[in-house]
Amino acid sequence: MGTYETKLWQVTKQHIDREEENVQAAAALLKKREVVAFPTETVYGLGADATNEQAVKRIFEAKGRPSDNPLIVHVAKKEQIEQLVTHISDQAHALIDAFTPGPLTVIMPSNGVCARNVTAGLDSVGVRVPDHPVAKALLEASDLPLAAPSANRSGKPSPTTAAHVYDDLNGRVAGILDGGATGVGVESTVVDCTGEVPVILRPGGVTKEALEAVVGTVKLDASLHDKKEPPRAPGMKYTHYAPDAPLWLIDGDVVFFQAQIDRLREEGRRVGVIASEETSAHLRANRVQTCGSQHDLHQVAVHLYDALRSFDQDEIDIILAETFASEGIGVAIMNRLSKAASKTVQPSE
Ligand code: TXA
Ligand code: MG
Repeated sequence: MGTYETKLWQVTKQHIDREEENVQAAAALLKKREVVAFPTETVYGLGADATNEQAVKRIFEAKGRPSDNPLIVHVAKKEQIEQLVTHISDQAHALIDAFTPGPLTVIMPSNGVCARNVTAGLDSVGVRVPDHPVAKALLEASDLPLAAPSANRSGKPSPTTAAHVYDDLNGRVAGILDGGATGVGVESTVVDCTGEVPVILRPGGVTKEALEAVVGTVKLDASLHDKKEPPRAPGMKYTHYAPDAPLWLIDGDVVFFQAQIDRLREEGRRVGVIASEETSAHLRANRVQTCGSQHDLHQVAVHLYDALRSFDQDEIDIILAETFASEGIGVAIMNRLSKAASKTVQPSE
């Protein structure tokens, strides 16, 4: 692929609209089938014209993404969703009304308007309306549906700042719109609404409890609780979110946690730790990265990917991470941590 002189555009969040000069510049490149990274309320996305196969191909090349992994399509307003699908079920309607714009992606039957490589040959398409002024301005200025996966190199943690995007994609994309740190911190919840009962394929910013309050029973894809089941979201089968050093999940109390750190350090390894404020206060390691309180998992979600990436700059041989309660947004946090981890260490019975 060609090498780019990646442009970095600053955008101030307060008065951003489609007329803003930097947004216009980014939109002009999108119209020329280039790829541009932009902030959403969850993580930064890497956008391209979803209706153009050549433009979409550039996303896969820049990320090093396997071509069997479909992309989410972003639109400016919920009224535009119907332009991309054959049918919006009652449940899909209800979920879109309740959570859009916001961190929810709804999978519906595709009508073929999106390029074939967006859906990776599936007959369904995932659509979402991001709740972020820069994303909205860019969608409006380009007047295109934008295919946009998270703007990281494939396998790395998703980017929550423009600097993360720059680290992964400088020279590989036409430009990056810098709108500051994102809000939610983990990606959107992906819900398949093509069957009778909605199924969560990827836990994310909207919790299962919140979805069920709107449409009644919602299932979790079997792969999310049974590792032997193949996931229905192709992207969920790949190693993901991994920092450079190996990561182990520690499922025990602080005494057990400290014992694991000490054992590894006695072997001469430099140990990094990711833990809540409560747990960090009791741990000694080569570096301890705090990511919020156990009692405010939304804050943990906001800081998780930055914490994972922070060790890439350090001479750390191994990262040990705390486990969090698997409820509410904690389901998404534990899903990402489990995918990043090569093993879980528990006290033996
Ligand atoms: O918050 C987000 O969703 C971010 C921002 C940028 O919008 N985007 C994002 O996209 O996380 P990506 O490509 O990193 O993850 C999309 C996930 C993948 O696991 C993919 O396999 C799944 O959604 N997916 C997309 N379309 C699908 C479809 N038609 N059927 C099943 N799974 C699908
Ligand atoms: Mg991703």
